[in-house]
Amino acid sequence: MSDDAPRSRVPGHIAVVMDGNGRWAKARLLPRSAGHRAGQRAVREIIEGCLHHGVQSLTLFAFSSENWRRPEEEISALMELFLRALDREVESLRQHDVRLTFIGELGSLNSLLRERIARAVAITAGNRKLTVNIAINYGGQWDITQAARELAAAVQRGELAVADIDQNRVAGYCQLSDQPPVDLFVRTGGEYRISNFLLWQMAYAELYFTDTLWPDFNQASLTQAIHAYANRERRYGRTGEQLAHTS
Ligand code: IPE
Ligand code: IPE
Ligand code: MG
Repeated sequence: MSDDAPRSRVPGHIAVVMDGNGRWAKARLLPRSAGHRAGQRAVREIIEGCLHHGVQSLTLFAFSSENWRRPEEEISALMELFLRALDREVESLRQHDVRLTFIGELGSLNSLLRERIARAVAITAGNRKLTVNIAINYGGQWDITQAARELAAAVQRGELAVADIDQNRVAGYCQLSDQPPVDLFVRTGGEYRISNFLLWQMAYAELYFTDTLWPDFNQASLTQAIHAYANRERRYGRTGEQLAHTS
């Protein structure tokens, strides 16, 4: 297996459910927070890997709208880690031409974290090589619901007719509307579910699941996922024969 997939077969947008930190820590008799800390190295690895392969967008699920159900001490450890990671990594991201964006209901986060998020977004806003979207307090159902609310408000203001609401219009109000739809969905940690991640944006994503726990995920794991993707036939409803004739 060569290290590089042919560029045309590299996914433009990869979305990742970074799962398995808790189990990684438990296997080492460590607290769950140690697993979250170890997971930060894997974030660095996947960003470097995406830069190497020429991926344009990477969306990372850092904290779901359901993760508020976790013990309070785990939630505060996670928020603290996000804060420190932002402070530590933003300069290196800027230097590597990485743009950082955040999706989710950020209004519920503490004001210090919101301030650091705004700072990181501003510092990296002009970067172009790779966009990394961090999903915090994000839920796919929330995303579609807020789009519906915005659309209804536009109709109410008389700016939009109900008959003009089509798929493009809905997509335009969902998060990440400035980026291509997800090509490759990756979930580590051996669970086979979407857990309310990007529902609209993943409509035609290729799904890739691995038992590797997130802290053990590295650039070789990413290359494996990209190779698996490169060998998929994306038919979008057509037949395999039709595709053979057009390629
Ligand atoms: C994913 O790892 C990180 C977050 C949800 C924040 P988990 O913490 O879910 O790890 P497991 O699934 O318990 O191993
Ligand atoms: C999904 O993982 C959320 C993140 C990775 C941030 P979870 O571990 O919270 O998902 P479930 O509970 O297994 O569905
Ligand atoms: Mg989990």
